[in-house]
Amino acid sequence: MSETLVGIDVGTTGVKGLAIDPGGAVLARAEAEYALDTPRPGWSEQDPLDWWEATEAVLRELRASAGSPAGIGLSGQMHGLVVLDSDGEVLRPAILWNDQRTGAECAEIEGTVGLERLIELTGNRALPGFTAPKLLWLRRHEPDLYARIARVLLPKDYVRLRLTGQHATDVSDASGTLLLDVAHRRWSEQLLETLELDPAWLPPALESPTPSGDTADGIPVAAGAGDQAAGAVGVGVDRSGPVSVVLGTSGVVFAALGEFAADPQARVHAFCHAIPGTWHAMGVMLSAAGSLRWLREVVRPEIDYDALVAEADSWPAGAEGLIFLPYLAGERTPHADPDARGAFVGLSVRHDRGALVRAVLEGVAFGLRDSLDLVAELGGQPELGRVSGGGARSELWLRIVASALELPLQRVAVDEGAAFGAAILAGVAAGTWSDVHEAVAATVRVADTIEPVPEWVEVYGHQRQRYRALYPALQAVAAQTGSKS
Ligand code: XUL
Repeated sequence: MSETLVGIDVGTTGVKGLAIDPGGAVLARAEAEYALDTPRPGWSEQDPLDWWEATEAVLRELRASAGSPAGIGLSGQMHGLVVLDSDGEVLRPAILWNDQRTGAECAEIEGTVGLERLIELTGNRALPGFTAPKLLWLRRHEPDLYARIARVLLPKDYVRLRLTGQHATDVSDASGTLLLDVAHRRWSEQLLETLELDPAWLPPALESPTPSGDTADGIPVAAGAGDQAAGAVGVGVDRSGPVSVVLGTSGVVFAALGEFAADPQARVHAFCHAIPGTWHAMGVMLSAAGSLRWLREVVRPEIDYDALVAEADSWPAGAEGLIFLPYLAGERTPHADPDARGAFVGLSVRHDRGALVRAVLEGVAFGLRDSLDLVAELGGQPELGRVSGGGARSELWLRIVASALELPLQRVAVDEGAAFGAAILAGVAAGTWSDVHEAVAATVRVADTIEPVPEWVEVYGHQRQRYRALYPALQAVAAQTGSKS
């Protein structure tokens, strides 16, 4: 009998797969990339068939090196809208989590339902990346296509459909649709009725470690989780205590909560966690490592990230007053503003490329601090962070983030947070462990701890005040010149 467990993360840049053993050791890794389309400014789309083909390739590769698994778990980019017709055919490219086209529909939802009532029903406010406003956008802009919708799925759940033939989602991912009654972990009938959306489109919302169906050759597939909840499991944030800090394309601060709690103004998301009976509070910035990728493409696409980041090391904390605002793709936390834009402020002739890099690393760290302060209001002040995501491979960036958050940051032995978390959920579904806590204890190990640098903590305390003053100041300038957008 195989003891191998496979986790699949259907990400924004590609599918990542991991095969682990019951001790948490990695037996095999595989990855397959795909394109992201931006047909118009602010739009972000992908072809669901690309996700499926990439998943098939990754599963083939994992199977070739690690054999047939005992279970598979799915994780994926959240909020993306996949619409299918009554034959199960994909009706249009998926509209992704970082797509910003639905500002008007968000205002419409909050206007129709009322912000307070919306938070009461779902725990959250309407943000452009979420799924429900995308359905309203389709109803308005693509009515013929909208009329043919028979099923609505999230990205990883489309992959599940192809893998098992089952329509299902899990409560953590479903939380990001704005259609889930997050407190009660079930679809909100009232909201669906108010928005005139057909409940028959939606799949059952299961708890994450529950089996959702079998592959054609009989392997159980766990319901799985949204990438942030799966990632938190993968770094051992399975109960309140350390926060999960992610430096991926997006940047996230995530605290597990033993009870449901929503921010009265929904400045942070209140979502179900991947462990039954638990929730999480989460702040999401849209461009974290994405900001560094942008800078590299603009200034020096030919060098690798290590060399680019090394150029920042010769600059002191605060980069002699240079500040970067990371709102390159609009922002979610703390500003909830699809029209927010990035900026470098405080440039002098002394500033070189290394200074720009330093300012980007620090600006992202300040953005994470904004999220941390809001999350701490619901989850309490944490004493420790667990980090993951591509940016967490940079020691310098982690020292900067630890100093801006004033928290020691721990890296874990296996740094593929979401795919690792998905493999853990696979193991619970397959019966390897009795629950997620037991699985985390058996598999997640801390590799090292990065402490805040005391002198930087002080500099960042001042720099952060200037950073925070910039968004409202630049908004005022945009309003004066009428150039906002
Ligand atoms: C979470 C979110 C992003 C995507 C990225 O709310 O939007 O983290 O899930 O994959």
